[in-house]
Amino acid sequence: MCGIVGVVSNKDVSHKLYEGLKNLEYRGYDSVGMCFLHNKSFLQKKGVGKLAEVQKKVNFLRFKGNIGIAHCRWSTHGGVTEANAHPHSDCSNRISVVHNGIIENYSKLKDELVKKGHEFTSQTDTEVIAHLIEDNLKGYSIEKAIQLALKKLEGSYALGILHADSPSKLFAARNESPLILGVGNNENFIASDVPSILGYTNKVVYLDDKEIAVLMKGSFKVFDLDGRQLRKKINVINWSREAAEKGGFKHFMLKEIYEQPRAIADTLNGRAANNHVVFDKEFGLSENYLRKIKKILILACGTSWHAALVGEFMIEELARIPTEVQYASEFRYRHALLDKDTLVIAISQSGETADTIAALREAKKQGVKTLSICNVMGSSITRISDGVIYTRAGPEIGVASTKAFTTQLSVLYLLTILLSKLRKTLNEGQVKSMIECIRKIPMQLPAVLHEDDEILRCAELYHKRTNSLYLGRGVNFPIALEGALKLKEVSYIHAEGYPAAEMKHGPIALIDKNMPVVFIAPHDIYTYSKILGNIEEVKSRGGIVIAIATEGDKEIPKKADHTIFIPKTLYTLSSILAAIPLQLLAYHIADKLGRDVDRPRNLAKSVVVE
Ligand code: AGP
Repeated sequence: MCGIVGVVSNKDVSHKLYEGLKNLEYRGYDSVGMCFLHNKSFLQKKGVGKLAEVQKKVNFLRFKGNIGIAHCRWSTHGGVTEANAHPHSDCSNRISVVHNGIIENYSKLKDELVKKGHEFTSQTDTEVIAHLIEDNLKGYSIEKAIQLALKKLEGSYALGILHADSPSKLFAARNESPLILGVGNNENFIASDVPSILGYTNKVVYLDDKEIAVLMKGSFKVFDLDGRQLRKKINVINWSREAAEKGGFKHFMLKEIYEQPRAIADTLNGRAANNHVVFDKEFGLSENYLRKIKKILILACGTSWHAALVGEFMIEELARIPTEVQYASEFRYRHALLDKDTLVIAISQSGETADTIAALREAKKQGVKTLSICNVMGSSITRISDGVIYTRAGPEIGVASTKAFTTQLSVLYLLTILLSKLRKTLNEGQVKSMIECIRKIPMQLPAVLHEDDEILRCAELYHKRTNSLYLGRGVNFPIALEGALKLKEVSYIHAEGYPAAEMKHGPIALIDKNMPVVFIAPHDIYTYSKILGNIEEVKSRGGIVIAIATEGDKEIPKKADHTIFIPKTLYTLSSILAAIPLQLLAYHIADKLGRDVDRPRNLAKSVVVE
């Protein structure tokens, strides 16, 4: 996904732009570029490939200038070419623009501009912005020209803009695409996310939709599209730069898997004690309202959608509220009918997933209350929703979501307890013991991580297999889906998740001696004996069984080729513990295959296009 960094400073900015882009590499991209403003003229360089490759050719670090913008591009309009890489300029080369998002009416705007004599050099939607500003500059200040240009744009944008005749100013704007301002000492920044500038400042201003910022080295101002100045809050971020780095692990994904005891402990901290669950002030939904809701609809994509399915199971089982889960991308085109007593929950690690944002907006149009479960403070989803529960996983850099997932499950579990308590579907004693069990989870996780040797052995034995099945039931069916998704994402091996009992309705035809089948089979009172039967069915057809079982289980090790143990806990919470061996298995297989684990091909961390 595209990323932007911009700096205005009292010193040369090339190193900061370079470092900023390096910190954005995790998003996945195909080309990079920078523009420096020096002595009222631009030095602009760009190229196709990873930052280090382009750096070898152009050496960004040799450029002078106290003000500059940089971009990594993940193509949407126009092929992967140097001409299409950002920044883009107007005809006179006095305006330079970097852009994330999609300008939906760009083709109409381009036709109008071409008729007026503008000459385009790329196939991108972004270039129209530079020409549109140029077109509006006649007779107006650059600030006014930017306002007028933005009013004509339809679609999403996060923008960094330089104007050669305004050599002390960096301009920025956003609409439905993330952009933050970083407030430094004698320098100010713009960036697509917080980690990319954390090395320089932890003071951040979140731009809202249809806002324009003007940054100078010692000050910044934010305006609406009519030029009215707005008051903006400076937020102090407590993520350290180190928190966003690998900390000695080979990959971010592995580091993030190992961070889960801390991430879950932080997520629970101050929220669950004795028989009380209390969320932070952003939660925003009253107890009175929560007692009355008749239905819950959860919207999400990818891994967050799997968390939603676990949440559905937890809420229906324990709080007894009818709950439905939909893919955000499908919901928005379904013309769904929402009852006003439905609570809509959006789950998103990034808070910037375009489909989830659009689905949430669609739900809001129908007048329902909305709650988001999100990892990124101040992200778009959190600002659209009526209430927010933050997962406190810290920055997740690996494209494959790991710690964000298990912290989402932890939050859903706490929410379930709160709802169960308010609606009296559980008594005080049950609530207390559920809280005790979740508080134990961070202490139980190291035991799961210690199973890594056996998981690594499985990876060594089976990393060359080209297919695999993941089977689970009840609360662990979504964990099977998530295990299969993790493997696909990072290793590029085909994997499918199924409810274990569905195997006999089709997938069983696939079983032979080359097929590893991962069973998520912790002990439970409902389906354990049935899963044992499913394991037999796979074994009798020559399949390879890797089973996740509860410690002390004597039956599964007799049948499975490999057993990975997780500690005893409540059935609903087994989903959190069981997710971790599957993350490790996917990681080790991908690593054995030499995959780019943190930046798997074709994937982006935040899917900010639809
Ligand atoms: C996770 O491993 C995936 N890369 C992806 O499915 C992700 O969960 C999905 O794009 C949703 O992202 P979000 O949680 O930031 O909204």
